[in-house]
Amino acid sequence: MIKQAIIPLAGLGTRLLPLTSVFAKELLPINGKPGIEYILDECINSGIKEIIFIISKKKEMIKKYFYNDKFYKEIIKKKKDKRIINEYKKILKYKKMVKFVYQNKPLGTGDAVLKTKKLIKEKYFLMLLPDDLIIKKNCSNSMIKIHNKYKSSVIASMTVNKNSVSRWGIFKLKKRLDKNNSLIEDVIEKPLIKKAPSNKAVIGRYILPKKIFNKLSKQKPGKGGEIHITDAIQKLIHENEKFIAHNFSGMYLDCGTMNGYIKSSLEISKL
Ligand code: G1P
Repeated sequence: MIKQAIIPLAGLGTRLLPLTSVFAKELLPINGKPGIEYILDECINSGIKEIIFIISKKKEMIKKYFYNDKFYKEIIKKKKDKRIINEYKKILKYKKMVKFVYQNKPLGTGDAVLKTKKLIKEKYFLMLLPDDLIIKKNCSNSMIKIHNKYKSSVIASMTVNKNSVSRWGIFKLKKRLDKNNSLIEDVIEKPLIKKAPSNKAVIGRYILPKKIFNKLSKQKPGKGGEIHITDAIQKLIHENEKFIAHNFSGMYLDCGTMNGYIKSSLEISKL
């Protein structure tokens, strides 16, 4: 059973400057609600019981968002406002599920994952990248079902424009299992257009095996000097670990860029 999820939140959010110069991008409102709450709701609605946030000293604002009890209590005492009481209850529900670990140097997603090593209890866990919002269908829930069926790791996949492959992790697929799921032969982080094996991209939802920590602890920096989760996955695939690419059916919103962030509010307001 997948009971734990991890969320890397130590990124600087430079693509959203100036909004992120003093503010954590994951707390920016998307149609009136902080982006991170959409991600938390996706976890909760797919049966996750514990969520590990990987933050940094610069992103402590995120922790404060969930630990602002004194402030809420004083306001509620004075105002007895129903809406505020409900919002506070929601925060308390999230707080009970969330643990924090620190990644103070931005050394990459693989390095962020490694920081959670001591806290992961089960054989598999879920990772969600908070820039990637998926609406209309719970992608984590669908992936957990596939994991339960095939007993393997699963990564969300989407067909992207051929000219944009160097922005994504790109799959080479081996064998189709059913309509939306295929076995992965290779995965390459941000390849050049001429070297890309396909235009099927990695989107930020992963069900990973605990054994990935062994690979990460020995891994040297890759593209751009960062430790990429993609490279550790590639190593496991070459050791015959089964990874499935799941072509998800929800709508993808890229909240990490300014255009995508603006579009996400518009799309969510239509729901
Ligand atoms: C990360 C991953 C990449 C993946 C992407 C999805 O890249 O490294 O493989 O395709 O998320 O959003 P980043 O967006 O951090 O550059």
